Amino acid sequence: MLDINSIRVQFPILNQKLYKRDLIYLDNGATSQTPQVVVDAIANYYQTINSNVHRGIHTLSQRATIAMEDARVKIQKHLNVRSEKEIIFTKGTTDGINIIAHAMRFILKKGDEVIISALEHHSNIIPWQMACEITGATLKHIPMNNKGELILESLDSILSTNTKIVAVNHVSNTLGTINPIKEIIDKAHEYGAWVLIDGAQSVPHMKIDIQELNPDFFVFSGHKAYGPTGVGILYGKENILNTLHPYQGGGEMIKEVSLEKSSYAETPFRFEAGTPNIEANIALAYAIDFINDIGIDNISKHENDLLDYATEQLIKLGDIEIYGNSENKAGVISFNLKGAHNSDVGSILDKLGIAVRTGQHCTQPIMSFFGIKGTVRITFAIYNTFEEIDIFINAMKRVKTMLK
Ligand SMILES: Cc1ncc(COP(=O)(O)O)c(C=O)c1O
Repeated sequence: MLDINSIRVQFPILNQKLYKRDLIYLDNGATSQTPQVVVDAIANYYQTINSNVHRGIHTLSQRATIAMEDARVKIQKHLNVRSEKEIIFTKGTTDGINIIAHAMRFILKKGDEVIISALEHHSNIIPWQMACEITGATLKHIPMNNKGELILESLDSILSTNTKIVAVNHVSNTLGTINPIKEIIDKAHEYGAWVLIDGAQSVPHMKIDIQELNPDFFVFSGHKAYGPTGVGILYGKENILNTLHPYQGGGEMIKEVSLEKSSYAETPFRFEAGTPNIEANIALAYAIDFINDIGIDNISKHENDLLDYATEQLIKLGDIEIYGNSENKAGVISFNLKGAHNSDVGSILDKLGIAVRTGQHCTQPIMSFFGIKGTVRITFAIYNTFEEIDIFINAMKRVKTMLK
């Protein structure tokens, strides 16, 4: 049995009152909270080794470099990636997708096709629209059904030898659907297409084995996985990355520079122009340690139990429409109270000390599919408890009497 209280005490931010009530944080899909070890790692960096990486002969610079490169290796091992050269530090999921979509501008041409899905976050839609607009390539998508699941059978008719890349998320941030990415990756590879997986909502919640899944690219954000903001990871296969056009030019990403022409470094530095977010990159490894100390399978189980319990209680409450009803679902519940606006529900919950997300969740196509303006969304992390769900349900009873 997990002792959730001993985990909660590692998150000082949770120990506060909002509007005279204990804070209940159910917006983990947007940003999870950071444990003290991660906060300490950031402070420790500035207190002991703050200096620029890969540049200095002096001791502090060397220590900072070693700390950041050790973090890279830790993340590589956590994801079961073949080489640390395949781990690129980015600003986050959006940045990682843009690095690849930008590189595709130099590869795609008219007649080529890019496939996304109906379940994507805007950050996995817009960069591909931009790449297609510039190159004349065609953007297609895998449709979804009423349960919020991708209609995988349709992939066979969408994929062709014209497909150059398939970019889909692992877990939908709005509906919680866990997509069958292994099948998607294998099918796309049959046609010679690359696959990018947006793992923003999966890395914090389930085991990821890159070598087993075999995507060509995989991205996620630190701030949704108990790490700091402004840091993320782009995994890419080394042999592919070394052929891609870098996203940004500058210091660190070069081999030779003349005033006329330059050659680029190999991955990962090829994609890490300029001074990185050093302390956050280092601290992300502490977040990974935090996850591993608890065990990712224990985290998954706890969140799934919370998901089942909260879903059951919300249905019991009545007048609730839940969007996303796949059997294969992670700890995300998007819902509306019938007859009430999602932001009114969210505002009242906030005044009752409960943080939820409201609106479109950067997934307007999903809102259009269901013909709605937005939803209330609750998302779980390891520190959430069943008592918190009970308090949330009681708060929802109050909301119902106020708004109905
Ligand atoms: C599935 C998914 N993809 C991409 C993103 C964008 O992540 P970031 O804002 O950290 O770049 C999010 C953030 O909510 C997400 O949930």
